[in-house]
Amino acid sequence: MAQVLFSHTDGKVDRVNIRDGQTILRAAKQGRVSLRHKCGGQASCTTCKVRIDNQEGVSTPEKKERMKLGDVQLANNMRLSCQTKVYQSVDAHIPEDPYKARIRKLLEAERNQ
Ligand code: FES
Repeated sequence: MAQVLFSHTDGKVDRVNIRDGQTILRAAKQGRVSLRHKCGGQASCTTCKVRIDNQEGVSTPEKKERMKLGDVQLANNMRLSCQTKVYQSVDAHIPEDPYKARIRKLLEAERNQ
């Protein structure tokens, strides 16, 4: 039994208990945690990215994931949640939705004029 602790950019935290070997995306679905996944877990869309700073308890990235993310994102602890299996409790940081981030920045720029 392991636990995935999902941290959102607004400070909200969700905890989901899972069986060892489940993916982070499956944990999110099980816990009804909002995590984008356009391709349904096929490692092709990269919308399911999460940041995992301590990766001791998760699977290492396989070729497909390494090719999709590239060296820079892997070095920044980004992982595809649909490809990352959990074997020990882990913290996964969900990045802000890029569309929401863009709208937030536009609104902030408008307020500052
Ligand atoms: S759900 Fe598309 S890459 Fe993970």
